Amino acid sequence: MPRQILVTSALPYANGAIHLGHLVEYIQTDIWVRFQKMQGHQCWYVCADDTHGTPIMLRAEKDGITPEALIERVHAEHSRDFAGFHVAFDNYYSTHSEETRFFANDIYGKLKAAGLIETRTIEQYYDPVKAMFLPDRFIKGECPKCGAKDQYGDNCETCGAAYTPNELKNPYSAVSGAQPELRQSEHYFFKLSDPRCQAFLRRYTREDGRLQPEAANKMQEWLGAEGENKLTDWDISRDAPYFGFEIPDAPGKYFYVWLDAPIGYFGSFKNLVARQAAEGVAIDLAAFIDADAAAKAGTELYHFIGKDILYFHALFWPAELAHAGYRTPTRIFAHGFLTVDGAKMSKSRGTFITAESFLKTGLNPEWLRYYYAAKLSATMEDIDLNLEDFGARVNADLVGKYVNIASRSAGFISKRFNGQLAPADAGLPAIKAIQEAAPRVAELYEAREFGKAMREVMALADGANQYVDSVKPWELAKQEGKEAELHAACSNALNLFRLLTVFLKPVLPAVAAKVETFLNIAPLAWADAAALLAGGHGIKAYEHLMTRVDAKLIEKLVEANKESLAPAPEQSSPQRHAEHQEKAAEKQVAEAAHCSIDDFMKVDLRIAKIVEASQVEGADKLIRLQLDIGEEKPRQVFAGIKSAYDPAALVGRLTVMVANLAPRKMKFGLSEGMVLAASDPDGKTGGLYILAPDAGAQPGMRVK
Ligand code: MSP
Ligand code: ZN
Repeated sequence: MPRQILVTSALPYANGAIHLGHLVEYIQTDIWVRFQKMQGHQCWYVCADDTHGTPIMLRAEKDGITPEALIERVHAEHSRDFAGFHVAFDNYYSTHSEETRFFANDIYGKLKAAGLIETRTIEQYYDPVKAMFLPDRFIKGECPKCGAKDQYGDNCETCGAAYTPNELKNPYSAVSGAQPELRQSEHYFFKLSDPRCQAFLRRYTREDGRLQPEAANKMQEWLGAEGENKLTDWDISRDAPYFGFEIPDAPGKYFYVWLDAPIGYFGSFKNLVARQAAEGVAIDLAAFIDADAAAKAGTELYHFIGKDILYFHALFWPAELAHAGYRTPTRIFAHGFLTVDGAKMSKSRGTFITAESFLKTGLNPEWLRYYYAAKLSATMEDIDLNLEDFGARVNADLVGKYVNIASRSAGFISKRFNGQLAPADAGLPAIKAIQEAAPRVAELYEAREFGKAMREVMALADGANQYVDSVKPWELAKQEGKEAELHAACSNALNLFRLLTVFLKPVLPAVAAKVETFLNIAPLAWADAAALLAGGHGIKAYEHLMTRVDAKLIEKLVEANKESLAPAPEQSSPQRHAEHQEKAAEKQVAEAAHCSIDDFMKVDLRIAKIVEASQVEGADKLIRLQLDIGEEKPRQVFAGIKSAYDPAALVGRLTVMVANLAPRKMKFGLSEGMVLAASDPDGKTGGLYILAPDAGAQPGMRVK
């Protein structure tokens, strides 16, 4: 009986590009799904963009577009990147969909009916300028422990202290720079502390196979000892303005993004069911998502996720589902994080590599699929992409071992035997070894031990190459009267190659498709490893299957990802950030045409005297300025004017600065404002001109 399996990968946020870190997960899942399909199981792989929440709302605002326009653009980019790496979702959808809204409302309604939703008034920071409540990440201030400036609302990057935003000293809104106020608001909570949830989670997280052993241990830590109640209720609502789903019967209150995100798995699946139905394929939706129907049908549900989001998937999500009458995940598979050359991905080192740049630079996506496969296991350990090892490994294994078998034998079949194979020698030890390995390799795939599977396959490829080396087709070809031997040797080699292709197909789908074309065979399934190609079978001309990794390409890739080319909102250089904000501001001005006098007056412009100006080591655009605006101490500002000014020539001059811009921590130090400069809007002429007041203006005077 084929199994009925629903598989998901985590839903990527709709405000950033897919990078090689993400791809660990999507490639891992895709390999597993392809393997299941090759087994003849009914396996559906769904995913979607995670589209809701404050960062996406603000990001759209910055870009001067609606959130809907932003998520649509990102959806196209993500779909393109995944397809580029052969990640073959059966459906790639969006959480901003009627299907997801339907399930969110349904689950919420059922939890409410079960008495597991409660409202409570909480106090939270509010940005009076933006007129919105601020998530912790958007509040900054001085660390209550060490006094470090510009720390986020949840923890200090200087001393490592963890605290709540209310403990920050001199807090300010990272959105507007305004001083936030504590305000009260009614929030909705999912009662995780309820004894029913506690009891359920204790049982669920310990059940055999639900979680990896490390993950199960983590959960026991979070749950605490028996009788202890460590779980606190989960705040599932956010106040308007928020980009998300409004909570039924609660105007102005929205579901927190993490409530509807996993529900998006079901939303995407429901959409898939409808699409399949339109093509005449019936899938029983309830059998995959309803608790009773799923138990009866024996369907399976697997979530592939990163270890960073285990809490959401192993606690909140199953607890919600179980108490709303939905089926719970059969298993949750967490993987570790990607490091590059042993360190966290870094923009300045060029190792924060986007999926798009990888493909654009001309690297073969299957190189990466193989490399990841060779490194992946069923554990939550981090995996390292070593850029030197990457090329060496791919060249040695895929080109040197696997492809080599075909490239050394296919030509003779075409040229000397009219493309027709001789019968394979079923008793050949190398052939028998591969056929006997099929169940073992399958078990490794099933258990997500891809690294072990690849080692096993490469050992079998070694055996195949030893066979080819022992019969030496290239020498037989030169000898008289060895036609039959040559024919047999090359036919055996191509059979060995075909068998290895079965095992590698989940990892190398595009190569496998080329092999199927060249061998002139139907798409390979796992069971095909039991059979051999018949004598007389005709093959097509061999076409090159894979080139070697050239070290220069890797260099180019790293270059292409060096900081300035791949900015992300948080880690981008301040210069880019400023440009970004300016562009958004320009667009907003263009769209709104007017700004009120109140809006204008929010900008505190001051006459500033440049008392010091110096080069900034390691920055190609910035000059460090010390600006006197009549305060006790000059302000430090990093200005992107290096192309136009020599620091020495600036000292002593008066200019205009924005004095109430939120301070920004940059890698060179704190920037406490911005100086004003003129330039033509599209920067074609490259000219930059800082403003200067007429004679008589004094440092600190307000400009309005
Ligand atoms: N939107 C949430 C998931 C919601 S699921 C209902 C999210 N998005 S994400 O874009 O930040 O990450 C998507 C997946 O990629 C997560 O499983 C995350 O762990 C994984 N990875 C993101 N960066 C990664 C690495 N550097 N290395 C490995 N996996 C990484 O979380
Ligand atoms: Zn601190």
